[in-house]
Amino acid sequence: MKETISRYGLRGELTVPGDKSISHRSVMFGALADGTTEITGFLRGADCLSTIRCFEKMGICTEILPDRVLVHGKGLHGLTAPSDILDCGNSGTTTRLISGILAGQNFNSRLTGDASLCRRPMRRILIPLGRMGADIASEDGNDCLPLRICGRPLHGIHYDSPVASAQVKSSILLAGLTADGPTSVTEPHLSRNHTEILLRSFGADIRSEGTTATIYPAEELTAQKIAVPGDISSAAFFIAAALIVPGSEIRLRNIGINPTRDGMIRVCREMGGRLNLENVRREAEPRADLLVQASSLHGITIGGDIVPALIDELPVIAVMACFAEGTTVIRDAQELKVKESNRIRIMTEGLRRMGADCEETEDGMIIRGGRPLHGASVDSASDHRAAMSFAVASLMADGETNISDPECVKISYPEFYRDLHSLIAE
Ligand code: S3P
Repeated sequence: MKETISRYGLRGELTVPGDKSISHRSVMFGALADGTTEITGFLRGADCLSTIRCFEKMGICTEILPDRVLVHGKGLHGLTAPSDILDCGNSGTTTRLISGILAGQNFNSRLTGDASLCRRPMRRILIPLGRMGADIASEDGNDCLPLRICGRPLHGIHYDSPVASAQVKSSILLAGLTADGPTSVTEPHLSRNHTEILLRSFGADIRSEGTTATIYPAEELTAQKIAVPGDISSAAFFIAAALIVPGSEIRLRNIGINPTRDGMIRVCREMGGRLNLENVRREAEPRADLLVQASSLHGITIGGDIVPALIDELPVIAVMACFAEGTTVIRDAQELKVKESNRIRIMTEGLRRMGADCEETEDGMIIRGGRPLHGASVDSASDHRAAMSFAVASLMADGETNISDPECVKISYPEFYRDLHSLIAE
């Protein structure tokens, strides 16, 4: 892909698609609620459509209308046995959250996904769900998909999770919805809390204290009207682009700024980025408009508590770091190795091909900024966030950049290239 960019940089306003994590959960909890859940701002990316298709196979009717999505819920015990294996596509969130829901049903099911998803670790949910009494197993015995789940009654447990993962936490909490007593999860660092916030709005008794979330078995959930905010993980590509391309000034409308997701904002500011929040709406899921202006960035160290709050943004933060003065160190981010691709490897390999001075470490990357980038052929590994990150890097690279499987952006952002072009002043 070749991007030509005028000397005016990126200019204009954009509304990015809805938050992926919240869109998935809206469908799942809507399916388990009594009544019709109405979702505006739903992300129509391939991942969230996988979630819809899985629930349709379990008897849930959904209507994808031009301005909203309707989920006709059947109540906590209303799902029916799927006639076929459930295909989660590329989506780890679909797989791990649905597993928690399926473990306590009174029917059996099987889950699979695409080649990338079939490589991702499922032991992290098999262990805690197994402790709750679930009969769940990896069919090939390698702790990966396909999974076979024989639904049965579950017990409430307390689980000390070794990883800060919202997918693991949510899987356990969802299993806890129908368990015989309270279920709690403690994480090493707080991961995104959309499950806690949204399930509470559906009427579940779910409490959070520090890094522990506790759910009490529910009698019923009640359908909701949900306005999904723009996805900060999608906004991140434009934030990074506007910060590094000289002359840029853009406004991103209605972006979710939940404190468990706002690590990108904190890091950009710490790197010297000019990023202002406007029109802040303090709702359960807070949102704001972001004004971003081209900035001189400097390298920083990123690690510890903040990592779960920006885990999906680290590929594009690595791109920003190439244009920052000094060294950026990313650590405590070993989870990047088990995302849609090994993002530590894919990003360091691709950026090095473009001329960057960066290296892979055991739990992150080290990037020495300041070297000019040039166009190259880079491998996205069909990972949507890697492809979008390389597209941002290409804006500042001399010559043409070819990204393998550029269309993989459809997973989370089908109109990404159109929206990027819309900000490039002619
Ligand atoms: C997600 C949680 C994160 C994130 C993923 C979406 C979610 O994964 O990387 O894109 O919706 O719960 P982990 O739970 O594996 O950290």
